[in-house]
Amino acid sequence: MNFKGRDFLKILDFSEEELRYMLDTAKQFKEMKHKGENHKYFPNKNIAILFEKTSTRTRCSFEVAGYDLGMGVTYLDPTGSQMGHKESIADTARVLARFYDGIEFRGFKQETVEELAKYADVPVWNGLTDYCHPTQVLADFLTMEEKFGHLEGLTLAFVGDARNNVANSLMAMSAKMGVNYIACGPNERKPDDELVNKCREIAKKNGCTITVTDDLGALEGKADAIYADVWLSMGEDKDKWGERINLLKPYQVTMNLMNRAKPTTIFLHALPSFHDLNTKVANEVNDQFGIPEMEVTNEVFESERSAVFDEAENRMHTIKAVMYLTLIDEDNNKEEENH
Ligand code: CP
Ligand code: NVA
Repeated sequence: MNFKGRDFLKILDFSEEELRYMLDTAKQFKEMKHKGENHKYFPNKNIAILFEKTSTRTRCSFEVAGYDLGMGVTYLDPTGSQMGHKESIADTARVLARFYDGIEFRGFKQETVEELAKYADVPVWNGLTDYCHPTQVLADFLTMEEKFGHLEGLTLAFVGDARNNVANSLMAMSAKMGVNYIACGPNERKPDDELVNKCREIAKKNGCTITVTDDLGALEGKADAIYADVWLSMGEDKDKWGERINLLKPYQVTMNLMNRAKPTTIFLHALPSFHDLNTKVANEVNDQFGIPEMEVTNEVFESERSAVFDEAENRMHTIKAVMYLTLIDEDNNKEEENH
C-alpha cells in the first residue's frame, strides 16, 4: 500500500483496503494520544490550511493533528490570501508547494481542490467542498466501528438532504466498507443518479446495498445508525430556508424515528447542528418559520444514543492518519531518530 505523496480529494479515489488502513492508523493514533505518547514524527515539515468557508472541527483537527505530528501549521482564512482574488488557483498551488509539505483546502467547488492538487506537487487534502466531505466520513465510520465493534453488515441511514456533501461521501464510504446505506429524504433532494449507480456497483462487490427512498418506513428494524445534517449547507442561498424547511420537516430525526429503527440505533451528525435555539442562525430561522429544532430534536441530540461528540473527536485522529500516511517517506525514520 502506498499513500506517499497522494492527494485526499474524495473517498472513491481509494480502495477498500486503503480506507481500512486509514481507519486502523487512526485507531493507533487515538490510542497514542490518549496514552499521552509523543508522536512528533515530522519536526521538519509544515502544512498550510486554506479555508474559503468557516470551520471549527476541521480547522482545529488539522491544526492539532499537525502540531501533534510535530509540524508547523499556517491557517489562511477566507480573506487571508490572494487566492481567487489576485492569484489563480494554479499559481497559488505552485507557490504554496514550494513552502509547505501538504495543503488542506475547504471551499465551494470540488474543481478548485482538484485544480490545487493538479498544480501542487505536495499532498492536497479536501476539508469539504459543495460536492463531498471525505475526512468527515472517516471519523463517522471510525465512530460506528467503535460503537458496534465492526462495520460490515451494519445499516446506515442518512435522513434529510440526501444529496449534500456529507451524504455523498457517506454513500461512497458505505459502499466501500460493506455497510448498507439508506438515503432517505424527499425526491427533490435525492442523490445524483450517476453517483448512486457508481456506488451500487461497488456495494454489490462488497456485499451491501444502496437504497434511495422517500419513505422513513425503510429504516424500520434496519438502521443501526441514523445520520442527520443541516438542511441548508454552507454556501447555499439563505433564501432557500423556507423551501428546504417545508421539504425536510417530515424528515426531522425524532426519538420516535430512532425507536422505530432499532432500540440500539445510534445517532450521528457531522455538526454544527440546529437542535436548539442557542445559536444566532437557529433563532433567525425560528423567528421567520417557527421551527425551534430542525434536522434533529434536542431530545435525540442530547440522548445516550447520540455519538456526535465521539465523532467530533475522531475528526482529529482520522485527519492525523490521512496526513501521516500521505506525508511519510524514507526520511521519516531519520526524523523519528532525530526526535
Ligand atoms: N463537521 C465539520 O466539518 O465541522 P466544521 O464545519 O466545524 O469544520
Ligand atoms: N453539509 C454541511 C456540512 C458541514 C460540516 C455544510 O456543508 O454546511
